[in-house]
Amino acid sequence: MILPIYALGQPVLKKVAKPIDQDYEGLSELIDSMWETMYHAHGIGLAAPQIGKSIRLFIVDTVQAMEEGKADEGIKRVFINAQKLEEAGDPWDYEEGCLSIPDARGDVKRPPQVKLRYMDENFVEKEEVFTGINARVIQHEYDHIDGILFIEHLKPLKRRLLKRRLENIRKGKINCEYKMKFARLK
Ligand code: NI
Repeated sequence: MILPIYALGQPVLKKVAKPIDQDYEGLSELIDSMWETMYHAHGIGLAAPQIGKSIRLFIVDTVQAMEEGKADEGIKRVFINAQKLEEAGDPWDYEEGCLSIPDARGDVKRPPQVKLRYMDENFVEKEEVFTGINARVIQHEYDHIDGILFIEHLKPLKRRLLKRRLENIRKGKINCEYKMKFARLK
């Protein structure tokens, strides 16, 4: 089921999300709906707070984002109760965007490598190191379950340039090709 994506201004996006256990009701249907919602919106990652659930769950598919012939360097994963164990390397700039903040993009600096411990969709514990775009998308989604949005990492000047756009998103005064849920309607 395609779910509405919660827009900037929705309080759930600013909450630190809670861990879940295997008995979380409707978990596999929820994960299916998140995949469907993400692909429908042409995203490469989606975190549960973005569909209104304050739980530590996010999904990532970078296979589709890799250059031609490099699809095997991408990952498709469900991350439950992820813990960031380590970040390493010289931080690099990469232009990020977010399905909760349509048509706003900006360079964010993050380390190129992240080590995570997490549960997959079957609640099997994994420990894995991710690099490059994979690390980048994971770090962005991980921020979501801690109530942090990428715009908070932007340089003050860039944020000022985006101010009106962000205000319009908060008010629901935007056109978006996928369904969104706004905190305040126009
Ligand atoms: Ni996002």
